[in-house]
Amino acid sequence: MDTGQRLCYNDSNVPDERLGVTMSSEEIIEPALTVSGLWFSYPDRLNVLQDVSIKIMSGERVGLIGPNGSGKTTFFLQICGVLKPSAGEIVVLGKPMLNGDFRSDVGLVFQNPDDQLFCPSVWDDVAFGPQNMKLSKDEVEARVTEALSIVSAIELADRPAHHLSEGEKRMVSIAGVLAMRPRLLIYDEPSANLDIRSRRRLIRLLQASEETILIASHDLELVLEVCERVVLIDKGRIITDGNPREVMGDDKLMEAYGQEKPHSLVQH
Ligand SMILES: Nc1ncnc2c1ncn2[C@@H]1O[C@H](COP(=O)(O)OP(=O)(O)OP(=O)(O)O)[C@@H](O)[C@H]1O
Ligand SMILES: [Mg+2]
Repeated sequence: MDTGQRLCYNDSNVPDERLGVTMSSEEIIEPALTVSGLWFSYPDRLNVLQDVSIKIMSGERVGLIGPNGSGKTTFFLQICGVLKPSAGEIVVLGKPMLNGDFRSDVGLVFQNPDDQLFCPSVWDDVAFGPQNMKLSKDEVEARVTEALSIVSAIELADRPAHHLSEGEKRMVSIAGVLAMRPRLLIYDEPSANLDIRSRRRLIRLLQASEETILIASHDLELVLEVCERVVLIDKGRIITDGNPREVMGDDKLMEAYGQEKPHSLVQH
């Protein structure tokens, strides 16, 4: 794109001047993620994702909500190249995502930290990504220290990850992703098992991020505090995509898909 216009894109890839302003070339917004006609089946479970198409612009913070088993984690595993789509296309930061690719510009915080942490120590786990990026020893060290400090887990550095509490594992998993400094961060149930203080720290971290963020969560208050856009998914299909206060404030819609209007949106 070589114009100086700030452009948003709709699904048909037609520039849409919703924001109605002209910006300098540095401020041009590009898609961080484009998914087109995505279908996916597990060998013994068909059509877990059905014709999913979505465009997420650079810098957006998007919440993905939906009942258990609606396909959120499955969707994330495809965006990151862990699972191969049955049909459709995924383009991440301008490049097609290929199955099995290691892309340091995309980071996934797994729903289950035990799927992510496998090294003998916390330090090694957080260093794994930066080492794979072939960074210098000093740079790896700096990034590990920085990432563990951000999540206030520096004192865990020498501990074996499998001895940590569930909440501690979550914070270390987040540090492992932050250490790669990805431009697209994908969080699968990031607040699960966190105590109040750690959850608040996570919310502040997410709010302060300038990167593109995609968060699947049953913690609807977190989604409300962090995201400017929410996507509701059910049975592998996108049901709606819009403003979090409007989507989550719609009692009938929320009930129809096994959700509840967040307490903070209930008028007293
Ligand atoms: N490895 C697998 N093999 C077969 N079926 C699977 C597998 N993993 C997930 N599924 C099924 O795919 C569907 C979507 O699961 P997924 O984990 O993506 O849901 P989810 O929206 O992340 O749910 P939750 O909110 O519980 O995390 C579910 O019906 C699940 O049982
Ligand atoms: Mg899940």
